[in-house]
Amino acid sequence: MHFPEFKLETYLSRREFSAAYLLCCSDAETWTLSELLKLASPELQQRWEALPLGYDIPSGNATLRETIAQLYPGLGPENILCFAGAEEGIFCTFSRLFGDNTHAIALSPCYQSLRDLPKTFGAQVTDIALRFEDQWQPDLEAIRAAIRPDTQAIIVNSPHNPTGTMLSKENEQALINLCEEHGLTLFADEVYRLLGPKTTEWRAPIASQTGAGISLGVMSKSYGLAGLRVGWIASQNIELLHAIEQTKYYTSICNSVPSELLSCIALEARDTILARNGNIVDHNLSLLDSFMERHAERFSWVRPEGGCCGLVQDHGKENVETLADELLKATGVLIMPGSVYDLTSNTFRIGFGRKNMPEALEHFESFILKG
Ligand SMILES: Cc1ncc(COP(=O)(O)O)c(C=O)c1O
Repeated sequence: MHFPEFKLETYLSRREFSAAYLLCCSDAETWTLSELLKLASPELQQRWEALPLGYDIPSGNATLRETIAQLYPGLGPENILCFAGAEEGIFCTFSRLFGDNTHAIALSPCYQSLRDLPKTFGAQVTDIALRFEDQWQPDLEAIRAAIRPDTQAIIVNSPHNPTGTMLSKENEQALINLCEEHGLTLFADEVYRLLGPKTTEWRAPIASQTGAGISLGVMSKSYGLAGLRVGWIASQNIELLHAIEQTKYYTSICNSVPSELLSCIALEARDTILARNGNIVDHNLSLLDSFMERHAERFSWVRPEGGCCGLVQDHGKENVETLADELLKATGVLIMPGSVYDLTSNTFRIGFGRKNMPEALEHFESFILKG
């Protein structure tokens, strides 16, 4: 098995914990333990104080799976399988979907494990390029043409990291139809679901829409609770969920019990949590709209529709990697060059989920104005 260098995680791990301003984050403003506990119902508060720290049900705590299932119309707790973060969910799912003599269709740029882990498990991957000119929407004809007899799955991510765009209704339906017609799995990474500008309209998750779908969710992004390391997949295919659970017995066995309960508290209070996080995103996006207008000659982007990051094209002369290094050194502001996504164009990911983003943007703007 080969695990290629994970460029994005490597880039972040060397900078994220010492940078003063994270202007590239893909997660919402983090909540503290005490803020979260204040949102707990009396029943969950009591459970928190008397929590036994033993093993829990491998597929996920029963209350947690029931609460998560509320996010998936038509599905119940038996349709949910929990993991340590979204990343373990991707790993365990792909270990069962892919092997030698299998094939996957992925869309690039993307979060690297979505494209590279199928290869680690032995699959061949056809990489379909998303293009700025198409507003980052996938080329459905190219996807259709890439389907082979050994294709197992089409892998998508909506809202998308790094562009913040979402599959159009038509493209989503076309992908569902393609997967149903060809007996493929539609693996939908939906870790940014329910976070974004208030105007965003949310359709049902893919796992609710089709028996061919697997939806990936997590506490990290929309809820701002990455430190809990709780993620999940949802699917109508219970046999497949059981097979995937077998891999979890070799990785984490069960979730962290305190994290499971804290996730229950957060999901029960999701309206409050998503409203606060959404307000930050709305405010920051309005600042970015003005910033993009002021610097229209140098920067362009497709305005993100969901999540809290976007991909900016820099038409300046300087290489973005150099710009990012110099910016970090001079101001403590961290952006993320598109090269971590293997993009050759001069692009960078900008994040707007954090409360101190306005200050970070001010530092960034003064830096570029100084030239
Ligand atoms: C699209 C996408 N999927 C999965 C993950 C992994 O999420 P987690 O850190 O919660 O495991 C990330 C993290 O950045 C992501 O952006």
